[in-house]
Formats: sequence, C-alpha cells, structure tokens
Amino acid sequence: MRNGNIVILTGAGISAESGLQTFRAADGLWEGHKVEDVATPQAFERDPALVHAFYDARRERAAAVEPNAAHRALADLEAAWSGEFLLVTQNVDALHERAGSRTLIHMHGELNRGWCLACGERFAWEGAMGEQVPCPSCTDVGQVRPDIVWFGEMPYEMERIETALRGCDLFVSIGTSGAVYPAAGFVQTAKYCGARTLEINLDPSMGSIFFDEHRHGPATVEVPQWVKEMLSSLRA
Ligand code: APR
Repeated sequence: MRNGNIVILTGAGISAESGLQTFRAADGLWEGHKVEDVATPQAFERDPALVHAFYDARRERAAAVEPNAAHRALADLEAAWSGEFLLVTQNVDALHERAGSRTLIHMHGELNRGWCLACGERFAWEGAMGEQVPCPSCTDVGQVRPDIVWFGEMPYEMERIETALRGCDLFVSIGTSGAVYPAAGFVQTAKYCGARTLEINLDPSMGSIFFDEHRHGPATVEVPQWVKEMLSSLRA
C-alpha cells in the first residue's frame, strides 16, 4: 500500500516494554485492584483518596519511563505517510507524543490532565493530584479528578474516530487484548467499510478472527519491522 488512509489503535501492550504494566496480564494493573474501586465515577465519589493514590502512582511511573522502538516507529510512519493517518490510543501515558506522534487521540484520557468537576475545566497536570489540590481555573478545592475515562463513561472523540474508521484503507491494532468496547469493535467497523485489518500483538486478541493479517510477537520487534516494510513500499 503506497498511500491511503491508515487508522492505528494501540493499547497497553505497546507500552509494556517501556516498563508500564498492562491491565489483564497475571501481574497486570487489574490484578492488584478491583476495577470498581479505582476506575469508576462511583469509586471516586466513595473514596477519592484511594483513586488519587492509584493514578498518582501511575502518573509518577509513566513519567519515569521512555518511549520504545514501537512508539518511535509509529511516529516515523506518520511523518513519512502522505495519506491520512490517525493514531488512536487507549493508553493514558504520554509515550506516543513523547516519541513524536502528532495526530493522536487519547480516547481514554490522559494521566497528565486534570478535570475540575466544579467548573468543568480540563487542564494539563504534572505530579501528584491528591484530594486537596485547588482547580487552577476556579480554585475550588477537592473537585479535581484525573482526566481519565472510567468504566461507565464515554470515550473521547468517538465521532472523529468513527469517521476515520469508515474512511480508512488499513486498520492496525497494536498491543490490545480487545476486551474493552468501544475500542474492541473498531476492527469490525473498519473491516465492514472495506479496510484491510492487521493485528500486531504478543498473542491473539479476543477479536483476532476479525483481522486479515496477524503478527504475533513483542511490539518493539513487530512494529518496527512492519513500519520498515511500509516505508520501503513507499520507495518501491
Ligand atoms: N508487545 C505486544 N503486545 C503485548 C506486549 C508486548 N510487549 N505485552 C503485552 N501485550 C499484549 C497482551 O498480550 C494483551 O493482549 O497487550 C495486550 C494488553 O491487553 P490489556 O492489558 O487488556 O490492555 P488494553 O487492551 O490496552 O486494555 C484496554 O482496558 O481497563 C482498561 O481502560 C483500560 O485502556 C484500557 C483498556
């Protein structure tokens, strides 16, 4: 494929080799926590200190690691690609943008952003958030939450994502288990609208049957190899 429109979906698996835990592995993030205790609006109402502690620790960890070869390869592909290119990540870390990706949607929010429930403002955030921080906009204390899409909440920019999926020629899913909707359904939308579909993952995802092509292995090996092939097809 020399040009054409590409949509890429990434999940926790692309950041695993940077040193960030995935969710559903035996030693994954959800093994140590009940989702309903740390990743729902109800959890935040019930025990904001626990929820803040969970995301403060993840923010600190994400700031301490570096983008890997898979993040960098996707940035290289975007820079060289003349068709439309959209990277949609379920990840809340900033490794894609730190690697140089530009056209990027964080559909599940970002660790480095806060959201004030008092005034509705969303803003950049660094370091611990905690319960007692004032909103930088309205100064209200105790109403700032991580700008993360929790279970039961609507992911961001769904219309823009759906439009890109319906118009893409190639859909690639990288490092995601396919356990969480709506992201898990993107492959079907793209496929039924005529796109070729490729899965790059350590092992077959839950939606593996919907992909035309599979490359199973570590993201830092498989993604740079695939990007190399895509870039050499541009030169051919
Ligand atoms: N290279 C490629 N894939 C990998 C690697 C690796 N080095 N390590 C793990 N994987 C794969 C796993 O095999 C698994 O299929 O990445 C996938 C990670 O799956 P999950 O832990 O379920 O993470 P993800 O799919 O991103 O989760 C989706 O669920 O609870 C949430 O909101 C959270 O955004 C997250 C969503």
